[in-house]
Amino acid sequence: MCSPPQDSLLQQYASADRKDTHSHAEPSKAICTHLNLNLKADFKSKRLSGFASYDIIHDNASEIILDVKSLDISKVEVDGEEVKHSIQGNDPIKGSALHIPLKQTSKQVKIHYSTNSGAEAVQWLDPIQTADKKYPFLFTQGQAILTRSWIPCQDSPGIRISYDAEVQVPKDLMAVMSASNTTVKSTDGLYKFQMKQAIPPYLIALAIGDLAFGKVGARTGVYAEPSLLEKSVYEFGEMEKMLELAEDLYGPYLWDRYDVIVLPPSFPFGGMENPRLTFATPTIIAGDRSLTSLIAHELAHSWSGNLVTNATWDDFWLNEGFTVYFENRIMEALYGKEYAEMLSLLGHQDLMHEVKDLGTHSHDTHLKLNLSGRNPDDGMTDIAYEKGAHFLRMIESKVGREAFDQFLNTYFSENKFKSMSTTEFEVYLAKNLLDEKGMDINIKEWIYGAGIPENCPVSTSDKFQNVERAYGLFAESGILPEEKITDEWTTHEWLHFIRNINKDEESKLFAVLDTKYNFTHSGNSEIAAAWYEKAIHNGYYKEITAEIESFLINVGRRKFLTPLYRALKEEGDIKTARDIYEKARQNYHSVSTQTMDALLLD
Ligand code: BES
Ligand code: ZN
Repeated sequence: MCSPPQDSLLQQYASADRKDTHSHAEPSKAICTHLNLNLKADFKSKRLSGFASYDIIHDNASEIILDVKSLDISKVEVDGEEVKHSIQGNDPIKGSALHIPLKQTSKQVKIHYSTNSGAEAVQWLDPIQTADKKYPFLFTQGQAILTRSWIPCQDSPGIRISYDAEVQVPKDLMAVMSASNTTVKSTDGLYKFQMKQAIPPYLIALAIGDLAFGKVGARTGVYAEPSLLEKSVYEFGEMEKMLELAEDLYGPYLWDRYDVIVLPPSFPFGGMENPRLTFATPTIIAGDRSLTSLIAHELAHSWSGNLVTNATWDDFWLNEGFTVYFENRIMEALYGKEYAEMLSLLGHQDLMHEVKDLGTHSHDTHLKLNLSGRNPDDGMTDIAYEKGAHFLRMIESKVGREAFDQFLNTYFSENKFKSMSTTEFEVYLAKNLLDEKGMDINIKEWIYGAGIPENCPVSTSDKFQNVERAYGLFAESGILPEEKITDEWTTHEWLHFIRNINKDEESKLFAVLDTKYNFTHSGNSEIAAAWYEKAIHNGYYKEITAEIESFLINVGRRKFLTPLYRALKEEGDIKTARDIYEKARQNYHSVSTQTMDALLLD
């Protein structure tokens, strides 16, 4: 029989608001607590094969249920003895349930398996798709529910496991994980990892490639392909400082090291907060450190998300809203208030667009979502990110920064290595902040209501007002802003300038801007992508289709792909969109092809 602490571990899953509709696991009956993973990566057959062995606890359960999606399972053992397992159901989103029979005394289950071409988490890249074009590459993306496609697991953010792993890769390559990593290649291609802290399975991650390591500070560094290493170390040169500032704000960093790996351009996200090792797109290497708020964001997840984790994907705003808020505070500490205000204003613009796209009354504009029966990816909108962050800024404005920071500090330390549901957060907030201050704030409206409440705080920025004036003058009279003004502009001011362009502006004016500023060939991916979107809506894109095509073929970051393909579709040129997509699709990760297939092929 289980001892009382184990019982209570299981019991925490009994409450209704913690029920994860995206996992088959039944954690109130039996859970995995530690994973021992042993895999070999074969780049010829594009398979990872080996075993996943789990320590488990249960209360006399007759079985334990794991999530699997498209895995080839050859054998399952319980405490060293082969058992008859069964795989039930085959949901296109959730995958299947792996049922493993248990006895009262069972302590360990071991699944021998191999991945196949249906492993949606994994992208196997040919050398041509890498920066150096010499060696193949592999990376995984687990969030939200893709880990089950490369590791059989209880794939729910409310469940935490520690892990250790052994991964065998071709001799020339190096493997890294969201765990302790070496900084040099091994001679035999064998790599060993340990993640002592308990993490939800969506944070287990693996990358394999021709990697080198560069140090940034005492606790920080960068992994990248050799030709990108120097640039990356420069670009992320402020990481150590960011880490210190983050600790000053919200308490000690509890994951030992913080490193970043720069992935090939097909990585479908800007960044992914895999613990100890953020996975990042190379499109943030702008040469001038102007896009590193993304690193602040992924670093902030080391508290919001990785220490205190959303209990289900319906509570996603607890991960992302807190992280955007925290990211902005790091940027403010690093570069000052004016800079942080520009970032939060760009976020506010994104929020307004998102609400317009989703519809002011849409349930998808609630912070607390209901994603049951849908892909949790559908919840990955600016509502979680920006409505979430603005909600926290609103509370900050009511209680004052000092009290709010104190609250957040305690929130992270009291809930570390735990998950949190929206209801639990509401209770925690009332008890630890609002009740004692006698505050009556429209919390429910923010969390359970549609659209943006009246008391949404909006920053103001003198810098952005100057940009608006400069654009206004240009639009009215064709006079370009003076160089002594634009010379001072940061990437964010340029983005604001581009966002201000009216799509109905004559193409001639687009040409004037392009001749002067060469946005079409900008080395800054955010500027290029924002410009291409405007150009598509305007019709000017016909002059620069080759450049847009080359960008879409090379880059697989979904945040850039969706607006560009969508703009082509909206402008009635689905043909160009499909022609480009046909060439580009093979370069994209499944996360991006799923979205683009739905947008362009349905
Ligand atoms: N955790 C997210 C990425 C994610 C969310 C992956 C949901 C899968 C499902 C990550 O922290 C993130 O938010 N990345 C952003 C960057 C950020 C600066 C807003 C991105 O990739 O654009
Ligand atoms: Zn995030």
